[in-house]
Amino acid sequence: MELAERVITKATPTIPADLLLRQTLARRKQLTRADSAWISRAVFSYFRWRRWLDEAQPMNAQLERALALADDFAISPANFLDAELMSNAVPSWTPEFVTVSPEWARSLQAEPALWLRARTGMAAQVSAQLGNCDSPKWSEFTEALRYDGQEDLFRHELFQAGAFEIQDLASQAVGLLCAPQPGETWWDACAGEGGKTLHLSDLMGGKGLVWASDRAEWRLHRLKQRAGRAGCFNYRSVLWKGGPKPATKTMFDGILLDAPCSGVGTWGRNPHARWTTNSQDVSELAVVQRDLLSNVAASLKVGGRLIYAVCTLTRPETTEIADAFSAAHPEFTPLPLVNPFAPGAPAAARLELWPQVTGANGMFIAAWTRQAIPDPAPVG
Ligand SMILES: C[S@@+](CC[C@H](N)C(=O)[O-])C[C@H]1O[C@@H](n2cnc3c(N)ncnc32)[C@H](O)[C@@H]1O
Repeated sequence: MELAERVITKATPTIPADLLLRQTLARRKQLTRADSAWISRAVFSYFRWRRWLDEAQPMNAQLERALALADDFAISPANFLDAELMSNAVPSWTPEFVTVSPEWARSLQAEPALWLRARTGMAAQVSAQLGNCDSPKWSEFTEALRYDGQEDLFRHELFQAGAFEIQDLASQAVGLLCAPQPGETWWDACAGEGGKTLHLSDLMGGKGLVWASDRAEWRLHRLKQRAGRAGCFNYRSVLWKGGPKPATKTMFDGILLDAPCSGVGTWGRNPHARWTTNSQDVSELAVVQRDLLSNVAASLKVGGRLIYAVCTLTRPETTEIADAFSAAHPEFTPLPLVNPFAPGAPAAARLELWPQVTGANGMFIAAWTRQAIPDPAPVG
């Protein structure tokens, strides 16, 4: 209880609760797996049910109440009214930017699923060795597994051997929708710690090249460690700050811009972020996203695929970015994508993936292909 309280009171917008929790637990090697799981659940339940708690109460009483609410919601969700969930589960600025439905609000209050991505061809082995794994109901995700066990997966020998990554199902959808082919050259422009770089590389069967850039050197360093473990060698990392000068003169078959965003789509998994993100972040990030998209687009070959992805659902960061890009770049035409969560539905150049449908993070994906600009008609 005391450790959970400490994490809650020390968490800030710049030191988020999930990071602080990871650091706190990692330092206390004497904790059992069950202790760590309890502390994590207490911290996340507190932030998830924060609007239901009485701040005047001592923190331990608030934590007990949050855990009781989490149990009650898991057993009897009908005890909670839609209106109450819609107004308490999200901060008050949200409805101006996102459609807050009862279904979305309910999904935000449920404890999230943990998704794994096995390396190509290894899902059956990973599932058999880990146990407590289920395949998703959508057949497109051949290597995805939902894990319901209690093990610390980061310490598992299969993880250490690079047989699987912990990667949310919506993030896996982004890699599948990029659909990179062996031998192609891709640019993962906001690669971060490389979650999607590793996926692209795996989908390419190690053949071809993925350029991974980010403005944060420490993130690229983490990518190098992860790539080593995953046996991913067909990537090249480069620092790129997002300006108009591209990371390289290479022209790409495909570009993925997994842009920095307000992260509203991760609020189920990361409830602390609900209370540290604000409407100004949305507006500021929309400017960054618009610039990044236009800056990367110049490096796409004619006929190539440009994929814009954000783990948020606010209109200024999703449809408005896609509209502005299409309007400013007539040589890019929308590229219809088949939604892996709705394979029978008509293909669409923009996909909104909602947590209540996918059981994963919320994500927006838009795609274009580049057309050759026709020669101007001869005059006279
Ligand atoms: C959504 S995260 C990327 C996650 C990563 N693609 C993955 O799958 O693990 C966005 C990344 O954009 C990077 N970033 C933010 N602003 C940037 C900029 N102006 N130029 C380049 N990268 C930027 C951040 O450092 C962060 O790593």
